[in-house]
Amino acid sequence: MAISIKSPREIELMRKSCRLLSQVHDELAKIVRPGISTKEIDRICEEIIRSYGCTPNFLHYQGYPASVCVSVNEEVVHGIPREDRIIQEGDLVSLDTGLIYEGYHSDAARTHVAGQADDAAQKLIDVTRQSFFEGIKMARAGNHLHDISNAIASYVTSYGYGIVRDLVGHGIGRTLHEPPQIPNFPQRRRGPKLRPGMTLAVEPMINMGTGDVEWLDDGWTVISADHSLSAHYENTILITDGEPEILTLGNIP
Ligand code: MF3
Ligand code: CO
Repeated sequence: MAISIKSPREIELMRKSCRLLSQVHDELAKIVRPGISTKEIDRICEEIIRSYGCTPNFLHYQGYPASVCVSVNEEVVHGIPREDRIIQEGDLVSLDTGLIYEGYHSDAARTHVAGQADDAAQKLIDVTRQSFFEGIKMARAGNHLHDISNAIASYVTSYGYGIVRDLVGHGIGRTLHEPPQIPNFPQRRRGPKLRPGMTLAVEPMINMGTGDVEWLDDGWTVISADHSLSAHYENTILITDGEPEILTLGNIP
């Protein structure tokens, strides 16, 4: 299926959707601390999204029961919020959420540490975040999609971390997931050519150990197979005639 090119009007709606999502993340960053339950994070997230007159796009997506994925420590993505999952000092907490504004979807993820960060955990978070920025240096019209994938992969691999291969980034717009798939691991083919007006969710998921993952019995939660720490960083971006626009970047990195 072809990759959609957004019209100027659609780009304005994507910008607005994404700007609101960046505000959600800025608010959530303030509440991640030891003692909060992952369910409470979900309640607050949904409340903020609805207070903007928007709809949480994760809620009920293929039966997913919450507005945010809260993935702790060895959980990679899609952790389901629970009343009895209490964040502990030093926990690595990935928050992945999105919303719909006037029919247009946004999607972004951040990884935080609750309380005081251990140096090794902080480094994993920093490298995961920077791998996104290394990747999108290639996100220019005329380049190819897999230039992004290869840039992410070579940066992450230089630190010896494991890249999750079972989950990928994606196009986004009138639905949460549109073509193309955006891998974070090396690709032999160049992939489709990037064109202005494409909106993409680029989202490296990186483990401290190997990139192998397993699914828990809840049908959602993805964990690292070796139970090593995992981090996730994601923004929705717009391909332009020049530098890519990072649509979901707020005030807090
Ligand atoms: N943020 C995820 C993604 O990038 C979507 C989560 S799907 C959900 O594809 F069902 F968990 F919400
Ligand atoms: Co996504």
